[in-house]
Amino acid sequence: MKIMVIGGGGREHAIVKKLKENPNVSELYCLPGNGGIARDATCIPVAATDLDGMVCFAKEQKIDYAVVAPDDPLAMGAVDLLEAIGVPCFGPDRKAAVIEASKIFAKDLMRRYGIPTARYETFDDMDAALSYLETAPMPAVIKADGLALGKGVIIAQTLPEAKEAVRTMMADKRFGKSGERIVIEEYLEGPEISVLSFTDGRTVVPMVSSMDHKRAWDGDTGPNTGGMGTVAPNPFYTPEVAARCMREIFLPTIRAMTAEGRPFKGCLYFGLMLTGDGPKVIEYNCRFGDPETQVVLPLLKTDLLTVMQAVTEERLAECPVEFSDGAAACVILASEGYPGSYEKGYPIRIPDDLSAEVYVAGAKDRDGQLVTSGGRVLGVTATAPTLTAALQKAYAAAEQIHFENAYYRRDIGKRALTAPEA
Ligand code: AMP
Ligand code: GLY
Repeated sequence: MKIMVIGGGGREHAIVKKLKENPNVSELYCLPGNGGIARDATCIPVAATDLDGMVCFAKEQKIDYAVVAPDDPLAMGAVDLLEAIGVPCFGPDRKAAVIEASKIFAKDLMRRYGIPTARYETFDDMDAALSYLETAPMPAVIKADGLALGKGVIIAQTLPEAKEAVRTMMADKRFGKSGERIVIEEYLEGPEISVLSFTDGRTVVPMVSSMDHKRAWDGDTGPNTGGMGTVAPNPFYTPEVAARCMREIFLPTIRAMTAEGRPFKGCLYFGLMLTGDGPKVIEYNCRFGDPETQVVLPLLKTDLLTVMQAVTEERLAECPVEFSDGAAACVILASEGYPGSYEKGYPIRIPDDLSAEVYVAGAKDRDGQLVTSGGRVLGVTATAPTLTAALQKAYAAAEQIHFENAYYRRDIGKRALTAPEA
Protein backbone atom coordinates (compact mmCIF):
# COMPACT_ATOMS: atom_id res chain seq x y z
CA MET A 1 0.00 0.00 0.00
CA LYS A 2 1.11 3.53 -0.75
CA ILE A 3 0.39 5.85 2.14
CA MET A 4 0.85 9.58 2.54
CA VAL A 5 0.88 11.52 5.78
CA ILE A 6 0.26 15.26 5.70
CA GLY A 7 2.24 17.39 8.17
CA GLY A 8 5.79 17.78 9.33
CA GLY A 9 6.21 17.79 13.10
CA GLY A 10 6.85 15.43 16.00
CA ARG A 11 3.27 14.17 15.87
CA GLU A 12 3.64 13.21 12.22
CA HIS A 13 6.94 11.48 13.00
CA ALA A 14 5.16 9.36 15.64
CA ILE A 15 2.37 8.55 13.16
CA VAL A 16 4.88 7.64 10.44
CA LYS A 17 6.85 5.36 12.73
CA LYS A 18 3.71 3.57 13.82
CA LEU A 19 2.36 3.16 10.27
CA LYS A 20 5.69 1.67 9.21
CA GLU A 21 5.10 -1.27 11.53
CA ASN A 22 2.43 -2.58 9.14
CA PRO A 23 4.03 -4.97 6.63
CA ASN A 24 1.49 -4.03 3.95
CA VAL A 25 2.84 -0.49 3.79
CA SER A 26 5.18 -0.55 0.80
CA GLU A 27 5.67 3.16 0.32
CA LEU A 28 5.31 5.88 2.90
CA TYR A 29 5.39 9.57 2.01
CA CYS A 30 5.25 12.59 4.26
CA LEU A 31 4.26 16.06 2.96
CA PRO A 32 6.33 18.07 3.79
CA GLY A 33 7.89 16.00 6.63
CA ASN A 34 11.21 17.14 8.05
CA GLY A 35 14.86 16.14 8.28
CA GLY A 36 14.16 13.52 10.94
CA ILE A 37 11.01 12.09 9.36
CA ALA A 38 13.09 11.68 6.17
CA ARG A 39 14.79 8.73 7.86
CA ASP A 40 11.48 6.89 8.09
CA ALA A 41 9.51 8.11 5.07
CA THR A 42 10.05 9.83 1.74
CA CYS A 43 9.53 13.52 2.35
CA ILE A 44 7.97 15.57 -0.43
CA PRO A 45 8.30 19.37 -0.41
CA VAL A 46 4.57 20.12 -0.47
CA ALA A 47 3.33 22.33 2.37
CA ALA A 48 0.61 20.93 4.62
CA THR A 49 -1.69 23.75 3.46
CA ASP A 50 -0.99 23.26 -0.25
CA LEU A 51 -4.15 21.34 -1.03
CA ASP A 52 -3.66 21.43 -4.82
CA GLY A 53 -0.13 20.12 -4.33
CA MET A 54 -1.26 17.20 -2.21
CA VAL A 55 -4.11 16.28 -4.56
CA CYS A 56 -1.71 16.31 -7.54
CA PHE A 57 0.81 14.20 -5.68
CA ALA A 58 -1.83 11.68 -4.57
CA LYS A 59 -3.06 11.32 -8.18
CA GLU A 60 0.41 11.00 -9.69
CA GLN A 61 1.60 8.44 -7.15
CA LYS A 62 -1.73 6.59 -6.99
CA ILE A 63 -1.81 6.92 -3.22
CA ASP A 64 -4.00 4.29 -1.54
CA TYR A 65 -4.57 6.01 1.80
CA ALA A 66 -3.92 9.43 3.32
CA VAL A 67 -3.60 10.60 6.91
CA VAL A 68 -4.20 14.33 7.32
CA ALA A 69 -2.73 15.27 10.69
CA PRO A 70 -2.68 19.10 11.19
CA ASP A 71 -5.68 21.34 11.86
CA ASP A 72 -5.20 23.80 9.00
CA PRO A 73 -5.53 21.41 6.05
CA LEU A 74 -8.42 19.66 7.81
CA ALA A 75 -10.26 22.97 8.30
CA MET A 76 -9.52 23.90 4.67
CA GLY A 77 -11.12 20.68 3.40
CA ALA A 78 -8.12 18.50 2.49
CA VAL A 79 -10.10 15.34 3.24
CA ASP A 80 -13.01 16.45 1.06
CA LEU A 81 -10.68 17.07 -1.89
CA LEU A 82 -8.73 13.84 -1.50
CA GLU A 83 -11.86 11.74 -1.12
CA ALA A 84 -13.30 13.43 -4.22
CA ILE A 85 -10.44 11.92 -6.25
CA GLY A 86 -10.97 8.54 -4.63
CA VAL A 87 -8.28 8.58 -1.95
CA PRO A 88 -9.64 7.27 1.37
CA CYS A 89 -8.46 9.41 4.29
CA PHE A 90 -8.06 9.42 8.02
CA GLY A 91 -9.36 12.75 9.29
CA PRO A 92 -12.62 14.68 9.45
CA ASP A 93 -14.05 16.48 6.45
CA ARG A 94 -14.34 20.24 6.47
CA LYS A 95 -17.83 20.27 7.95
CA ALA A 96 -16.73 18.18 10.93
CA ALA A 97 -13.36 19.92 11.40
CA VAL A 98 -15.31 23.05 12.37
CA ILE A 99 -15.49 21.59 15.89
CA GLU A 100 -11.92 22.88 16.26
CA ALA A 101 -11.86 25.61 13.62
CA SER A 102 -14.63 27.59 15.35
CA LYS A 103 -14.66 27.82 19.13
CA ILE A 104 -18.09 29.48 18.91
CA PHE A 105 -19.43 26.49 16.97
CA ALA A 106 -17.97 24.15 19.60
CA LYS A 107 -19.35 26.13 22.55
CA ASP A 108 -22.82 26.46 21.00
CA LEU A 109 -22.82 22.73 20.22
CA MET A 110 -22.06 21.95 23.86
CA ARG A 111 -24.77 24.33 25.05
CA ARG A 112 -27.37 22.86 22.68
CA TYR A 113 -26.61 19.27 23.66
CA GLY A 114 -25.97 19.77 27.39
CA ILE A 115 -22.28 18.83 27.29
CA PRO A 116 -20.45 20.19 30.36
CA THR A 117 -18.17 23.16 29.61
CA ALA A 118 -17.30 26.58 31.05
CA ARG A 119 -20.13 29.15 31.00
CA TYR A 120 -19.58 31.64 28.18
CA GLU A 121 -20.82 34.47 25.98
CA THR A 122 -19.85 35.16 22.37
CA PHE A 123 -19.27 38.53 20.75
CA ASP A 124 -18.70 39.98 17.29
CA ASP A 125 -18.89 43.55 18.54
CA MET A 126 -16.02 44.94 20.59
CA ASP A 127 -18.07 47.48 22.57
CA ALA A 128 -20.52 44.81 23.63
CA ALA A 129 -17.63 42.60 24.76
CA LEU A 130 -16.02 45.44 26.73
CA SER A 131 -19.23 46.36 28.51
CA TYR A 132 -19.95 42.68 29.32
CA LEU A 133 -16.56 42.47 31.01
CA GLU A 134 -17.50 45.28 33.45
CA THR A 135 -19.62 42.83 35.43
CA ALA A 136 -17.94 39.54 34.50
CA PRO A 137 -16.09 37.59 37.20
CA MET A 138 -12.26 37.62 37.03
CA PRO A 139 -10.13 35.84 36.04
CA ALA A 140 -11.85 35.62 32.66
CA VAL A 141 -10.79 33.59 29.65
CA ILE A 142 -10.84 35.34 26.28
CA LYS A 143 -10.66 33.14 23.18
CA ALA A 144 -10.41 34.01 19.50
CA ASP A 145 -13.04 32.07 17.55
CA GLY A 146 -10.77 30.70 14.83
CA LEU A 147 -7.49 28.79 14.59
CA ALA A 148 -4.60 30.78 16.07
CA LEU A 149 -1.69 28.33 16.36
CA GLY A 150 -2.72 27.57 19.92
CA LYS A 151 -2.14 31.19 20.91
CA GLY A 152 -5.68 32.52 20.72
CA VAL A 153 -6.46 32.01 24.41
CA ILE A 154 -5.74 34.69 27.00
CA ILE A 155 -6.39 34.20 30.70
CA ALA A 156 -6.97 37.67 32.14
CA GLN A 157 -6.55 38.07 35.88
CA THR A 158 -7.97 41.59 36.09
CA LEU A 159 -10.50 43.76 34.28
CA PRO A 160 -7.85 45.94 32.56
CA GLU A 161 -6.06 42.81 31.33
CA ALA A 162 -9.30 41.38 30.02
CA LYS A 163 -10.13 44.59 28.16
CA GLU A 164 -6.65 44.67 26.71
CA ALA A 165 -7.08 41.07 25.50
CA VAL A 166 -10.36 41.90 23.80
CA ARG A 167 -8.81 44.93 22.09
CA THR A 168 -5.79 42.93 20.89
CA MET A 169 -8.08 40.40 19.29
CA MET A 170 -10.86 42.62 17.96
CA ALA A 171 -9.21 45.99 17.22
CA ASP A 172 -5.51 45.19 16.66
CA LYS A 173 -6.48 41.92 14.96
CA ARG A 174 -3.50 40.10 16.43
CA PHE A 175 -4.96 36.81 15.18
CA GLY A 176 -6.37 38.21 11.93
CA LYS A 177 -9.85 37.00 11.00
CA SER A 178 -9.69 34.36 13.75
CA GLY A 179 -10.26 37.11 16.33
CA GLU A 180 -13.16 38.92 14.66
CA ARG A 181 -15.47 36.91 16.84
CA ILE A 182 -14.54 35.94 20.38
CA VAL A 183 -15.68 33.85 23.30
CA ILE A 184 -15.46 35.12 26.87
CA GLU A 185 -15.72 32.28 29.32
CA GLU A 186 -15.64 31.39 32.95
CA TYR A 187 -12.24 30.47 34.40
CA LEU A 188 -12.13 26.85 35.52
CA GLU A 189 -9.67 25.16 37.83
CA GLY A 190 -8.44 21.61 38.16
CA PRO A 191 -6.07 19.14 36.57
CA GLU A 192 -6.16 18.99 32.78
CA ILE A 193 -6.60 15.73 30.94
CA SER A 194 -6.20 15.10 27.23
CA VAL A 195 -8.17 12.25 25.74
CA LEU A 196 -7.65 11.46 22.09
CA SER A 197 -10.24 9.16 20.60
CA PHE A 198 -10.85 7.22 17.44
CA THR A 199 -14.33 7.73 16.09
CA ASP A 200 -16.16 6.85 12.90
CA GLY A 201 -19.18 8.97 13.74
CA ARG A 202 -21.03 6.14 15.50
CA THR A 203 -18.54 4.44 17.79
CA VAL A 204 -16.02 6.30 19.92
CA VAL A 205 -12.94 4.56 21.27
CA PRO A 206 -10.94 6.67 23.71
CA MET A 207 -7.19 6.15 23.56
CA VAL A 208 -5.01 6.06 26.65
CA SER A 209 -5.32 9.41 28.47
CA SER A 210 -2.45 11.88 28.67
CA MET A 211 -1.30 15.14 30.24
CA ASP A 212 0.26 18.02 28.34
CA HIS A 213 2.59 20.66 29.84
CA LYS A 214 1.81 23.84 27.96
CA ARG A 215 3.89 26.40 29.82
CA ALA A 216 7.48 27.01 28.79
CA TRP A 217 9.14 26.84 32.18
CA ASP A 218 9.28 24.61 35.24
CA GLY A 219 6.47 24.83 37.77
CA ASP A 220 3.97 25.62 34.98
CA THR A 221 5.25 29.17 34.66
CA GLY A 222 6.22 31.24 31.65
CA PRO A 223 4.49 31.69 28.33
CA ASN A 224 2.18 29.16 26.70
CA THR A 225 3.80 26.90 24.13
CA GLY A 226 2.68 24.17 21.77
CA GLY A 227 3.53 21.75 24.58
CA MET A 228 6.82 21.04 26.41
CA GLY A 229 6.17 17.44 27.33
CA THR A 230 3.51 14.82 27.94
CA VAL A 231 2.86 11.75 30.01
CA ALA A 232 0.42 8.88 29.56
CA PRO A 233 -1.70 7.61 31.13
CA ASN A 234 -2.96 10.63 33.09
CA PRO A 235 -3.45 9.40 36.68
CA PHE A 236 -6.24 11.92 37.29
CA TYR A 237 -8.26 10.02 34.69
CA THR A 238 -9.57 7.31 36.98
CA PRO A 239 -11.99 4.62 35.77
CA GLU A 240 -14.82 6.62 37.41
CA VAL A 241 -13.83 9.82 35.60
CA ALA A 242 -13.47 7.86 32.35
CA ALA A 243 -16.95 6.38 32.69
CA ARG A 244 -18.41 9.80 33.40
CA CYS A 245 -16.60 11.34 30.42
CA MET A 246 -17.93 8.63 28.14
CA ARG A 247 -21.50 9.19 29.35
CA GLU A 248 -21.54 12.97 29.64
CA ILE A 249 -19.02 14.10 27.03
CA PHE A 250 -17.69 11.61 24.46
CA LEU A 251 -20.88 9.90 23.32
CA PRO A 252 -23.00 13.08 23.48
CA THR A 253 -20.42 14.89 21.34
CA ILE A 254 -20.29 12.19 18.66
CA ARG A 255 -24.08 12.01 18.57
CA ALA A 256 -24.38 15.79 18.47
CA MET A 257 -22.06 16.06 15.48
CA THR A 258 -23.99 13.37 13.63
CA ALA A 259 -27.31 15.02 14.52
CA GLU A 260 -25.96 18.31 13.13
CA GLY A 261 -25.20 16.61 9.81
CA ARG A 262 -21.48 16.75 10.54
CA PRO A 263 -20.51 13.17 11.40
CA PHE A 264 -16.97 13.19 12.70
CA LYS A 265 -14.53 10.58 11.42
CA GLY A 266 -10.93 10.58 12.55
CA CYS A 267 -9.25 11.48 15.81
CA LEU A 268 -11.33 13.68 18.06
CA TYR A 269 -9.30 15.20 20.87
CA PHE A 270 -11.06 16.10 24.10
CA GLY A 271 -9.22 18.72 26.15
CA LEU A 272 -10.79 18.29 29.58
CA MET A 273 -10.56 19.89 32.97
CA LEU A 274 -11.44 17.92 36.07
CA THR A 275 -13.29 20.57 38.07
CA GLY A 276 -14.92 20.22 41.48
CA ASP A 277 -18.11 19.93 39.46
CA GLY A 278 -16.88 17.03 37.35
CA PRO A 279 -15.08 16.86 34.01
CA LYS A 280 -15.70 19.73 31.59
CA VAL A 281 -14.60 20.36 28.04
CA ILE A 282 -11.94 23.05 27.65
CA GLU A 283 -11.52 22.49 23.95
CA TYR A 284 -12.01 20.06 21.10
CA ASN A 285 -9.33 19.41 18.52
CA CYS A 286 -10.19 17.68 15.28
CA ARG A 287 -6.88 15.81 15.14
CA PHE A 288 -4.15 14.06 17.06
CA GLY A 289 -2.56 16.34 19.67
CA ASP A 290 1.07 17.33 19.56
CA PRO A 291 2.93 16.21 21.73
CA GLU A 292 0.20 13.90 23.14
CA THR A 293 0.53 11.61 20.12
CA GLN A 294 4.17 11.04 21.02
CA VAL A 295 3.12 9.26 24.25
CA VAL A 296 -0.18 7.76 23.13
CA LEU A 297 0.88 5.93 19.96
CA PRO A 298 3.89 4.18 21.55
CA LEU A 299 1.38 2.54 23.94
CA LEU A 300 -0.96 1.42 21.14
CA LYS A 301 -0.67 -2.34 20.74
CA THR A 302 -3.11 -2.68 17.82
CA ASP A 303 -1.85 -1.90 14.33
CA LEU A 304 -2.51 1.80 13.68
CA LEU A 305 -3.32 1.50 9.99
CA THR A 306 -5.89 -1.21 10.73
CA VAL A 307 -7.68 1.06 13.21
CA MET A 308 -7.50 4.05 10.89
CA GLN A 309 -9.02 2.10 8.03
CA ALA A 310 -11.78 0.84 10.30
CA VAL A 311 -12.57 4.48 11.11
CA THR A 312 -12.62 5.48 7.46
CA GLU A 313 -14.84 2.54 6.55
CA GLU A 314 -17.16 3.15 9.52
CA ARG A 315 -16.61 -0.25 11.09
CA LEU A 316 -14.78 0.82 14.22
CA ALA A 317 -17.28 -1.12 16.39
CA GLU A 318 -15.82 -4.35 14.98
CA CYS A 319 -12.20 -3.36 15.44
CA PRO A 320 -10.58 -4.15 18.79
CA VAL A 321 -8.21 -1.39 19.93
CA GLU A 322 -5.71 -2.28 22.62
CA PHE A 323 -3.24 -0.23 24.63
CA SER A 324 -0.42 -1.55 26.77
CA ASP A 325 -0.70 -1.22 30.55
CA GLY A 326 2.57 0.66 30.84
CA ALA A 327 3.32 4.36 30.87
CA ALA A 328 5.05 6.74 28.48
CA ALA A 329 6.79 10.09 28.97
CA CYS A 330 7.86 12.59 26.34
CA VAL A 331 10.27 15.44 27.07
CA ILE A 332 10.46 18.16 24.43
CA LEU A 333 13.92 19.46 23.66
CA ALA A 334 13.38 23.02 22.47
CA SER A 335 15.55 25.88 21.26
CA GLU A 336 16.35 28.31 24.09
CA GLY A 337 14.05 31.31 23.67
CA TYR A 338 11.06 29.38 22.34
CA PRO A 339 8.14 30.33 22.19
CA GLY A 340 9.78 33.71 21.57
CA SER A 341 12.65 34.17 19.15
CA TYR A 342 15.50 31.66 19.02
CA GLU A 343 18.49 30.75 16.87
CA LYS A 344 18.58 27.76 14.57
CA GLY A 345 20.96 25.76 12.43
CA TYR A 346 22.78 23.97 15.27
CA PRO A 347 23.94 20.39 14.64
CA ILE A 348 22.12 17.74 16.69
CA ARG A 349 23.97 14.76 18.13
CA ILE A 350 21.90 11.72 19.07
CA PRO A 351 23.69 8.55 20.26
CA ASP A 352 22.79 5.41 18.30
CA ASP A 353 22.14 3.25 21.35
CA LEU A 354 19.63 5.59 23.00
CA SER A 355 17.06 3.74 25.10
CA ALA A 356 14.28 6.10 24.02
CA GLU A 357 12.45 7.00 20.84
CA VAL A 358 13.26 10.38 19.32
CA TYR A 359 10.51 12.11 17.36
CA VAL A 360 11.84 14.95 15.29
CA ALA A 361 9.75 18.13 15.22
CA GLY A 362 11.91 21.08 14.21
CA ALA A 363 15.05 19.88 12.47
CA LYS A 364 16.25 19.69 8.90
CA ASP A 365 18.90 17.82 7.06
CA ARG A 366 22.05 19.74 6.09
CA ASP A 367 24.43 17.57 4.06
CA GLY A 368 23.54 14.46 6.02
CA GLN A 369 23.63 16.24 9.40
CA LEU A 370 20.47 16.95 11.36
CA VAL A 371 20.39 20.63 12.40
CA THR A 372 17.84 22.55 14.46
CA SER A 373 15.22 24.46 12.47
CA GLY A 374 12.35 25.10 14.88
CA GLY A 375 11.33 26.03 18.40
CA ARG A 376 10.36 22.54 19.46
CA VAL A 377 13.19 20.41 18.10
CA LEU A 378 12.85 16.86 19.42
CA GLY A 379 10.42 14.80 21.47
CA VAL A 380 12.26 12.20 23.52
CA THR A 381 9.83 9.43 24.48
CA ALA A 382 10.34 6.45 26.73
CA THR A 383 7.94 3.72 27.78
CA ALA A 384 8.19 1.64 30.94
CA PRO A 385 5.92 -0.29 33.30
CA THR A 386 5.46 2.80 35.52
CA LEU A 387 5.38 6.53 34.95
CA THR A 388 8.32 7.08 37.32
CA ALA A 389 10.45 4.66 35.31
CA ALA A 390 9.34 6.14 31.97
CA LEU A 391 10.28 9.63 33.16
CA GLN A 392 13.67 8.47 34.37
CA LYS A 393 14.37 6.81 31.03
CA ALA A 394 13.22 9.81 29.00
CA TYR A 395 15.34 12.25 31.03
CA ALA A 396 18.39 9.96 30.92
CA ALA A 397 18.06 9.88 27.12
CA ALA A 398 17.50 13.64 26.90
CA GLU A 399 20.79 14.20 28.73
CA GLN A 400 22.64 12.20 26.10
CA ILE A 401 21.38 14.33 23.21
CA HIS A 402 23.28 17.48 22.39
CA PHE A 403 22.72 20.64 20.43
CA GLU A 404 23.68 24.18 21.25
CA ASN A 405 20.92 26.20 22.91
CA ALA A 406 18.95 23.12 23.91
CA TYR A 407 16.33 23.79 26.54
CA TYR A 408 13.89 21.46 28.27
CA ARG A 409 11.69 21.43 31.32
CA ARG A 410 12.97 19.35 34.23
CA ASP A 411 9.60 18.69 35.81
CA ILE A 412 7.55 16.89 33.18
CA GLY A 413 5.26 14.41 34.94
CA LYS A 414 5.73 15.95 38.38
CA ARG A 415 2.14 17.04 38.68
CA ALA A 416 0.92 13.66 37.43
CA LEU A 417 2.93 11.92 40.15
CA THR A 418 1.07 13.93 42.79
CA ALA A 419 -2.30 12.55 41.68
CA PRO A 420 -4.02 10.46 44.34
CA GLU A 421 -4.07 7.47 42.00
CA ALA A 422 -0.44 7.73 40.85
P1 AMP B 1 -7.04 25.97 24.53
O1 AMP B 1 -6.24 26.51 23.37
O2 AMP B 1 -8.49 26.18 24.41
O3 AMP B 1 -6.62 24.57 24.87
O4 AMP B 1 -6.56 26.77 25.79
C1 AMP B 1 -5.21 26.79 26.15
C2 AMP B 1 -5.09 26.57 27.62
O5 AMP B 1 -5.73 27.64 28.32
C3 AMP B 1 -5.76 25.32 28.13
O6 AMP B 1 -4.95 24.18 28.03
C4 AMP B 1 -6.03 25.67 29.57
O7 AMP B 1 -4.86 25.48 30.35
C5 AMP B 1 -6.32 27.14 29.51
N1 AMP B 1 -7.76 27.40 29.50
C6 AMP B 1 -8.57 27.44 28.43
N2 AMP B 1 -9.84 27.67 28.80
C7 AMP B 1 -9.83 27.78 30.15
C8 AMP B 1 -10.83 28.01 31.15
N3 AMP B 1 -12.12 28.20 30.84
N4 AMP B 1 -10.43 28.04 32.43
C9 AMP B 1 -9.14 27.86 32.77
N5 AMP B 1 -8.17 27.65 31.90
C10 AMP B 1 -8.48 27.60 30.60
N1 GLY C 1 -1.09 19.64 22.71
C1 GLY C 1 -2.25 20.36 22.40
C2 GLY C 1 -2.62 20.38 20.98
O1 GLY C 1 -2.20 19.57 20.18
O2 GLY C 1 -3.40 21.24 20.62
